Amino acid sequence: MIILPSRQTKTTLHFGENFIDASLLKKLSQNTKIVIIADTYFESFVKELQFPFLIIEGGEIAKTQKKKEEIETFLFKEKCGKDTTLIALGGGTITDLVAFTASTYMRGIPLILIPTTLLAMVDAAIGGKTSINTPFGKNLLGTYYSPNAILCDFQFLKTLSPKEWQNGVSEILKMGLIRDPSLYQTQITQEIIQKAILRKIEIVNQDPYDQGFRKILNFGHTVGHALETVSKYTLSHGEAVAIGGLIESHLSMDLGFLSASDFQEIKKMFSLDVINYPSQKIIEAMRLDKKNQNQEIHIVLIDRIGHALEFEGKYTKSVSEQELLNTLKHYAIS
Ligand SMILES: NC(=O)c1ccc[n+]([C@@H]2O[C@H](COP(=O)([O-])OP(=O)(O)OC[C@H]3O[C@@H](n4cnc5c(N)ncnc54)[C@H](O)[C@@H]3O)[C@@H](O)[C@H]2O)c1
Repeated sequence: MIILPSRQTKTTLHFGENFIDASLLKKLSQNTKIVIIADTYFESFVKELQFPFLIIEGGEIAKTQKKKEEIETFLFKEKCGKDTTLIALGGGTITDLVAFTASTYMRGIPLILIPTTLLAMVDAAIGGKTSINTPFGKNLLGTYYSPNAILCDFQFLKTLSPKEWQNGVSEILKMGLIRDPSLYQTQITQEIIQKAILRKIEIVNQDPYDQGFRKILNFGHTVGHALETVSKYTLSHGEAVAIGGLIESHLSMDLGFLSASDFQEIKKMFSLDVINYPSQKIIEAMRLDKKNQNQEIHIVLIDRIGHALEFEGKYTKSVSEQELLNTLKHYAIS
């Protein structure tokens, strides 16, 4: 049993294959009322559990104020009180949305997360961040809220599309680059998934509210998010983060922190030549990154495979436009 950081609850983490059924959920919710909010993909699975449920279509469209209100209305109509356990079953969009709703419904009700994508298992469901999107930007409304339990059933991963699988693999590779070289590989076994989850828990435990160390989890994401924006989301999150990881590794080498031989190792993992976006546009998009300070672009850097750098107690470094251009010229168009 693994305990995650929390102010109010202790989270238990459960792994296995085909182990989720109604009796386990009843036990974990200590026989309170149960309501399940599930991704469309799991409608037939959830019907068999015979608890009240609401189906929501997964994807970013799920993470809206309207959907949160829809869940709240459902909970009121079901006469759910403070002792109701809310269960999220789906990818990261569903776990983010449902966790946020659980954190505000009657000032917080018990929550169980059942992540069904690789990305949700190794990333979104771990660490207590909840959120929805707004017309003004992604993940702008949210809370920190710990679930009572997280159930990772590897059976669910068997139906993921290659694109969804890749999204999760990119996050595991990132963990390999910043924290644990044994995770820097594409042979994703159940053991590797568990290890990636434990590594994220270790990082989050040291910095539950994202004040410093947790920022290393943003490696690859500063360039990655900019690429998602510039590509108008034709690049998937996983693709963008993978390219972002490569470019931020290159930058780490160009700035004198990462050896050329480590960079060559990292490069072997990618088959990327050129991305068809202008460097200036990518930099413009990077200027909107949440980590920036005093209008400077801040990036997480590594000094070897498996280790993110610390700069006098901070885990990002400001990088000038010229330094970025020098690295981006190898990948982007001018
Ligand atoms: N809270 C956090 O700390 C955190 C961290 C990383 C990402 N996130 C969030 O996670 C979200 C992305 O999560 P995601 O990639 O899981 O996306 P998602 O929830 O949109 O799921 C992707 C797609 O996979 C489908 N799906 C889900 N499980 C499936 C299964 N087992 N088999 C087949 N199809 C399945 C869904 O219907 C959906 O179409 C983003 O909104 C991101 O902001 C949150």
